[in-house]
Amino acid sequence: MFYKPSEGHPLPYNPFNAMITPRPIGWISTRGADGRDNLAPYSFFNAVAYVPPQVMFASTSAKADRGDTKDSVANIRETGVFCVNLVSYEMREAMNQSAGPWPRDVDEFSHTQITRHECQTIAAARVADAPASLECKMTQIITLEGAHNFAVFGEVTGVHIRPDCLNEGRFDIARAGLISRLGYQDYAQIGEIFSMTRPE
Ligand SMILES: Cc1cc2nc3c(=O)[nH]c(=O)nc-3n(C[C@H](O)[C@H](O)[C@H](O)COP(=O)(O)O)c2cc1C
Repeated sequence: MFYKPSEGHPLPYNPFNAMITPRPIGWISTRGADGRDNLAPYSFFNAVAYVPPQVMFASTSAKADRGDTKDSVANIRETGVFCVNLVSYEMREAMNQSAGPWPRDVDEFSHTQITRHECQTIAAARVADAPASLECKMTQIITLEGAHNFAVFGEVTGVHIRPDCLNEGRFDIARAGLISRLGYQDYAQIGEIFSMTRPE
């Protein structure tokens, strides 16, 4: 089959997300200028550079009480910083709860009973028990095509790794139990892992 997205799609559900999988989940913690913490998952998220390490996430659509965007982007516009927390299987329900369309004054750390620690290089909270957290200074917010679509880029200025996620000097994703986002309502855990050596 073939379709042009500009003309809609012929399937019962939009297949776009389901084809670009698995996607890592960046559980983004931010703090507003009023000092209130915010926590929300974003699966339009990835690493984009090594030196210096940089990540991005994209926000789509807007909340009624946030003008042209959602709380996360609004807070980053105010403070210029954010933290990306990785999500383990044990945290899946809290992560999902934190995605609710809560009013801007809801602190999802409290709402989902997630323990917070203060970041070290930025003024924001992080998820204390996350397998890893990346403290980031925003470098660019790019306005994308369409309404309310923004890509946020940041340089990683601090890295927290939970000690039990390290195995012989490597970050062990099986130990970390990271989950990833598929299409529709689906998620995945890491299954078989195999290695390949790149050609010289
Ligand atoms: C696993 C998961 C991934 C999500 N990924 C995105 C995303 O990439 N971009 C986006 O705009 N919303 C995404 N959402 C929805 C947001 O989390 C949701 O709109 C949330 O209320 C935004 O919170 P905020 O206003 O506090 O930033 C995702 C939700 C879930 C559960």
